[in-house]
Order: sequence, then structure tokens, then C-alpha cells
Amino acid sequence: MCGIVACRMDESAGPFLIDALKLLEYRGYDSAGVAIRTVDGTTASSRTTQRVETLERQLDGWVGPALSGTGIGHTRWATHGAVTETNAHPHTDCLDRVSIVHNGIIENADALRLRLQTTGHVFASEVDSEVVSHLIEDELIVTGDLRTAVTSATAQLDGSWAIVALDAQTGRMVAAAHRSPLLVARSGRGVFAASDINAIAEWVDEFQAMSDGDVVELADEFSWTRSGAHSAPPSFVASTWSGATHGLAGHADYMGKEIEEQPETAARIIDRLAPSIADGSLWASLSVPAFERVAVLGCGTSLNAGRVIASAFGALGDVPNSSLIASEASTAIVEPRTLVIALSQSGETADVLRAIDDLDLGTSSLVALTNSDHSTLARRADSMLNCHAGPEIGVAATKTFVAQVITGVAMALSALAATRRIDRDYARRQVDDLRRIPDLLAHAIAASQKAIPPLIDEIRDAQGFLFLGRGSGVVYAAEGALKLKELTYRWAEHYPAGELKHGPLALVEAGTPVVVIDSGDRRIESNIAEVEARGGRVIRIGGAGSTVPALGLSLGTPMPGGIDRWGPLESVVPLQILARDLALALGRDVDKPRNLAKSVTVE
Ligand code: F6R
Repeated sequence: MCGIVACRMDESAGPFLIDALKLLEYRGYDSAGVAIRTVDGTTASSRTTQRVETLERQLDGWVGPALSGTGIGHTRWATHGAVTETNAHPHTDCLDRVSIVHNGIIENADALRLRLQTTGHVFASEVDSEVVSHLIEDELIVTGDLRTAVTSATAQLDGSWAIVALDAQTGRMVAAAHRSPLLVARSGRGVFAASDINAIAEWVDEFQAMSDGDVVELADEFSWTRSGAHSAPPSFVASTWSGATHGLAGHADYMGKEIEEQPETAARIIDRLAPSIADGSLWASLSVPAFERVAVLGCGTSLNAGRVIASAFGALGDVPNSSLIASEASTAIVEPRTLVIALSQSGETADVLRAIDDLDLGTSSLVALTNSDHSTLARRADSMLNCHAGPEIGVAATKTFVAQVITGVAMALSALAATRRIDRDYARRQVDDLRRIPDLLAHAIAASQKAIPPLIDEIRDAQGFLFLGRGSGVVYAAEGALKLKELTYRWAEHYPAGELKHGPLALVEAGTPVVVIDSGDRRIESNIAEVEARGGRVIRIGGAGSTVPALGLSLGTPMPGGIDRWGPLESVVPLQILARDLALALGRDVDKPRNLAKSVTVE
């Protein structure tokens, strides 16, 4: 996590860095800071444990030598060291000459710190990143060249890093990356570096993601060192900027906006993929070898989306399937001829990247399902499918979940048709059903926006929630509980409803909110009765008597023959709205829940 940005331009760096940091804030918002070179060759530094708006005010009040167009910025998600201004980036060396911003974890920081202290270095903060500025200082004294100094300093690091170092004396700036995302970019306005293209896309024409071990000087001509050898910069990719995709467009928060975008997002994805599903061409375009089983891999909401997709392979094509929690997957045994689908909307989740590095894939193949073509996951996988959700700014995943499920199910159908596990007519009928999803989502939004707000007062003081489902509903119960926890900071657990009587029922007392997803298994009625008999407050999503009425029409109706393919996808909408509305009533920041970040680049 943490977001970093750097620029070297003719205009003043301040407004650019602030705007970019606002767009990077989703990566961490424990503190923020900038270091800008002054026209006198000194550093103007400003840091805060508040949000970027505060940093902006601090910078507006800057008194001192004029600021140049060269600077670096950082937004922090704390790992090492408390959330204090001293621990905020940028960090500097003893001479106040080299400032650095860092995203990642320096695993050997303690040993390096001890060594540097014995040679007279004095540290200001508790954070691992600070060792980097001191190492660069030492190397700079010897070589006098920032690029060589950064190359030598990073050669001493273990762990992960995306770093930009600024030498205030010379105005030179050098970026380095290893297992943390960083890209460099340029346009007529200057040269730039950032953790995410969306943060700087408005200013740049083309960009290039850095690879592990790269060191790049941010000058008029990039000078690029790749794994020790000097080489020309690789070819650059044109940047596509659509201002329309950013901004709140009249919504109170990004989460609300992104929930409402789901029908349109779903329709766009289905329109794009539909022609290539039943004829198998979507699958063929991925060039993946034959497979006998499927394993999905991911974290949090992406893992939930993966579980829906894995079940679809099983329900539609009898393909054995399993799911792997990425942070626990490193020692998993992947059987030969497994199709491994790694899901990550950011494509930068460290747990996922570590898992795909550690897994012995042998004859198995890896498909990435992500929302970013240029992400590390997309580059490391054998092939990649973009879920095209569009930018998702709210930290809680909403539209990317829906986009991943639809894209993954489309891939499943296409794979099953291409490998003749299902016939094309059957696949076409499934595509017709997929086409109903945008309307189902739109109905779910309208109905939930009416039905959920009146419930909020009643459940506002509840300290714990249960989410129950059966069959395909269980994963949606898991997603509902995850959303509620992360947004409201209230306890929420999910269970297969049949498990209730084996323990969790003891939690139910008068008024305990129990959210039940009805995906059509009639046994859920007894589980609801068990809760109501103990005075629990049942919030029923789907089926007869649904708390959100319009959902009764589409949920609880698996296909003839009892095949439940992607489950009650539209049930995710009332679950998102329930979590958001309760969080707002409790005064939470729904776009930036405490302790979290959107792109989780540490293990
Ligand atoms: C929850 C949420 C997280 C992410 C998880 C994986 O709302 O957003 O659980 O789903 O951190 O992130 P990605 O998809 O970027 O790998």
C-alpha cells in the first residue's frame, strides 16, 4: 500500500503533487507528505497525519524560497511505526539533501539501521523506509552520482520497494522498483512517476510500468538501468484518460456512485463479451491449454468473486473446482492440468503475487482476472482477462465484484463451450440469462434504496451481525458480512445456514440482526424460524417475504434441474447498501474505512 508520485516539470510541482495524491489516497490515508526542490537548491518539505486537503493548506501557506517543478509525494498506510508526522514520508538523510518516498517493506531495515548508526547516521523516525535515504547518502558521497547511488543502495535491500529519490542539490530524481508497483511517464509538460496511472493520467501522454530491479532517472530522456545493465527505455504505452470516470458526479461518496454504476457496468461488459462466449472465441483468445480442473485464488472480495466463478465451472460443466486464500496458498498442491484463475481488481495484491510465485504450476496455466491491464499480476500471468469495471475509488469493492463475476462466468461458459463440455445452444441460453443481470441489478438498487433506510435506526446499536445462506447463497453471505465489517467496524460473521444450530445460534438474542440470503433452498425456512424463535431480527434478502421486495422476483429461482450457476448475484446490492447506510448513520467514512487501503501491496 502507500501511494507515491514524482514530477519534474516547468510548472510548480505543488498543485500537481496534491492533485495526484488525492487520487492516490485510496492506497493509504494514515498520513501524507511532499518534498519539493526550491529554486535555491534546498528542500521544502511538508507532512501531516491528516488527509491530503490539510497538506494542500500547509503547502499554500509555504513561506520560503520559491518552489520549483521538481518534487515527490507520498500517502501512507502505516506498517512500521505509528501514525505520526515524524514517521510520515518523505524521509531524508542526515544532510537534508536526499529525500525519498517509498512503498513496500524493507525486510532487513533493522540490520541496515544498526550498521548505519555505527557509522554516525542519526535516524529521525521509526520507519523501515528511512534507511533508504541514509544508504543513498552514503553512496552519493562516494560516487557523486544519484543513479549509481540508488542502484548501489537498492542492491543492499531485502523486501519490496517502489522508491523515488530526489537530490535537492542537483535537482536529479531517480526511481527504483522491486516487487512494488511503479510506472514512469512523460508528456510535453514533463516527466513523472506514480504508483498508479490513474493518478497522473490527466498530465501524461505515455507511460511504462517498471519491472523488478529497474532503476530509472527521471530526466528529459529517461535513462534506464535494468537488472544492472544500461539499456534504452522500453517502448511506452499511450495513456488513456477519461476525466468523466473520475469525480463524484453529484454523489455524496464514491461508494454510493459505484454501487449505482453496477447495472451500466454489467451491461457494458456483457455487450462486449457476449458475441465471443458461445462460439468459444473468448476462451480461444486466451490461448490456455486444456484443463481438467479449476482453482481460483484471491483475497477478500476478489476471492468471493472467484468462488462464484469456480462454482459456475462446477454447476455448468461438472468441472472439479476449488478455491485458495492467496495468503495461505504458497504451500498448496496444484494438480496437473489445473486452470488457475488469480483474481485481483488492483492486480497488485502482494498475497496474490507471492502465491503465484510460490505455487508449483507445472503443467497448469495461470489466467489473471483483474481490472488493470498494466498491473503486475497481468504481466506475470500466462494470460489476462480485464474485467473492465472502470476506476473504482471507494476502498470497499463493489462494482469490481460484479464485473469480476460476470467476466469470470463469461470465461467459464466460453471455456466449457470451446472444450465441448456444454453445447453451443446451451451456452447461448446462458448468455441470454447473463443479459438479464443489468436489469436485475437496477431493480435491486431501486428496491434497496427504499427498503434499507427504514431498517437502519432499528439495527444501529447492534454490536454483532450474522449473515446466513445456503448453497450458492453462502458466498454472498460472506460478501455481505465482509462489507458490513469493513465499513461499520461492527462484528459480522457469515455461516452456511445449516451450521447455525452447531454453535453460532448461541449468539442470537432478542434483536440480533441476522441477514439471510435466500437462493432457493427451502431448508432456509427452518433456519429463519430458529432465529425468530430466539427473538433474532431477520433481514431477508430474496424469496417470499423478502425485506427488499423486488428481489423476491428473481432470487430463489435456480435453473430447472436445480442447477444454480452464479447464484443470486443481485443480492450483493442490498448487502452493499445495508453496509453503506449503516456506516453513514454511524458517522464512518465509507470511501476510506479505517486501517484499510485499496491496493494491498504488503503481505
Ligand atoms: C473488500 C475489499 C478487499 C479486496 C482485497 C483484494 O471490500 O475490497 O477485501 O477485495 O483486498 O484486493 P484486490 O482485488 O485488489 O486483490
